[in-house]
Amino acid sequence: MSLYGRYLLPVLTDLAMRNEAVSAERARWVPLAAGVVLEVGAGSGLNFAHYGSHVRKLYALDPSAELRRMAGPRAQRARVPVEFLAAPAEAIPLPDASVDTVVTTWTLCTIADAGRALHEMGRALRGDGRLIFVEHGHSTDPRVAHWQDCLTPIWRRIAGGCHLNRPIDQLIEAGGFEISEIERGYVRGPRVGAYLYRGVARLRASGR
Ligand SMILES: C[S@@+](CC[C@H](N)C(=O)[O-])C[C@H]1O[C@@H](n2cnc3c(N)ncnc32)[C@H](O)[C@@H]1O
Repeated sequence: MSLYGRYLLPVLTDLAMRNEAVSAERARWVPLAAGVVLEVGAGSGLNFAHYGSHVRKLYALDPSAELRRMAGPRAQRARVPVEFLAAPAEAIPLPDASVDTVVTTWTLCTIADAGRALHEMGRALRGDGRLIFVEHGHSTDPRVAHWQDCLTPIWRRIAGGCHLNRPIDQLIEAGGFEISEIERGYVRGPRVGAYLYRGVARLRASGR
């Protein structure tokens, strides 16, 4: 991996993921997590402060050593015990049906094989567990969607594999989940990256 990818990109990611609109979404959705929680693509740990007392334990999975290092101090300040998992979401090192909640924020855009990762999340989740997601993705506005499609090849290269144009709801459903709650729409910021999908999904009984 290049020096840019290993050291500079994690710092830029941490800075970019701290803006007001993003923080407001974290504060709204992350506290819904309960029990044993797996956060996929935990990054620099910006969600950690939002986990409340009904979380018994947090597994913070991220393949980036630099981001896990940056998340360390935030893990120490968290109100819940945090254990880091150095792994990609395509191969989650947890037993079947071992977590109550999976949380993913601004990560399904970046995971190389998002379909496989969602299948893995479903495997690690208990039957009555919940997937809480806050993700950016393909806009319903054709003009914005066009720009998302045009810009994604170059954007992926500078933003660590991030796709601007993934249809997040379809990916989640194709991964074996049923979405029980969803909000779609823009938050503040450049429209190509500001169309959000946020909500809650459960394992589809027939899909596994
Ligand atoms: C834009 S950052 C978001 C970080 C964090 N979720 C947040 O909300 O601040 C994307 C994250 O996805 C992680 N990531 C990339 N590929 C991944 C994979 N295959 N499995 C799990 N996480 C991955 C990156 O290391 C990075 O932490």
